[in-house]
Amino acid sequence: MKKIVLTGAAGRLGSHLREPLSKIADQLVSTDLADEIGTLYAGESYVKADLASLDQMVDLLKDADMVVHFGAIGDEAPFDAILQSNIVGAYNVWEAAFKNGVRRVVYASSIHAVGMHPKNEFIGTDAPHRPDTYYGLAKCFAEDLASLYWDKRGVESVCMRILSAANVGNPRAVGSWLSYDDLIQLVTRAIDTPVTGFAVVYGVSNNDRVPVDNAKASFLGYRPKDNAEQFTAETFAASDVLDSQDPGNMCHGGPFASVELGNSGVATMNIVDDTKKT
Ligand SMILES: NC(=O)c1ccc[n+]([C@@H]2O[C@H](COP(=O)([O-])OP(=O)(O)OC[C@H]3O[C@@H](n4cnc5c(N)ncnc54)[C@H](O)[C@@H]3O)[C@@H](O)[C@H]2O)c1
Repeated sequence: MKKIVLTGAAGRLGSHLREPLSKIADQLVSTDLADEIGTLYAGESYVKADLASLDQMVDLLKDADMVVHFGAIGDEAPFDAILQSNIVGAYNVWEAAFKNGVRRVVYASSIHAVGMHPKNEFIGTDAPHRPDTYYGLAKCFAEDLASLYWDKRGVESVCMRILSAANVGNPRAVGSWLSYDDLIQLVTRAIDTPVTGFAVVYGVSNNDRVPVDNAKASFLGYRPKDNAEQFTAETFAASDVLDSQDPGNMCHGGPFASVELGNSGVATMNIVDDTKKT
């Protein structure tokens, strides 16, 4: 692998992916809106760029083998903000990939693309889109774009519907947790699998209480190792009795299933900022 481009490199998940990705390719080009992202790893360079600019994305993806697309607004927000970074931004990434002959887009999709499905339904990767927010709707758009660019333009995509890549800070997370080690394994499998076409896989650890089924994505060889069961007793003990009539407790999307459109879902989730500093 000669060149990988990582979008969202200044973000929390991007910060944990930079080092492993720098070891997979001769050249890692990290990009985000920030002016700089700290000390660079061997083989890494940094380019400040806006996903909302097609010209900037076309320049960025020149000679790339793959793009690992993690740049986005990572929360529910007013539609216009989502439109620019997450919808127009996704179009620009796939279009720039096509224009540059990039083989594959490895995409950070989300459980929020299917977040209104009830949690007591064990959903597979073929569950119909059922977004819980504008944020989830943008993930649906990007997954459909990925499908379209595979069918019509031969650009491969692996859409990783990440559940919760964050500390286990609430009862939902004992099912939805994705550890950073498992995230790195998932992204690595999405890159090193020789042929993927258009694929969807859930990004979740090997939790006893995992609420989604990755059987149809088995060919990717993603076999998560971590299990959030170790946090269960403490997490449940610290929690109030949960209201079963609240979609935030009953649906896959968790708090995103009950927030008003345009309002933050992350704000209610006790997420620790453990962005890896370099
Ligand atoms: N953290 C999770 O549990 C989780 C779950 C599901 C999906 N995801 C997805 O994973 C990706 C990374 O999530 P995160 O938690 O690291 O979020 P984050 O907010 O920490 O990182 C996202 C990065 O994208 C960048 N970005 C936003 N708009 C941009 C633009 N217009 N141009 C260039 N860069 C832009 C931001 O500056 C930020 O650094 C996102 O796509 C998110 O939707 C995360």
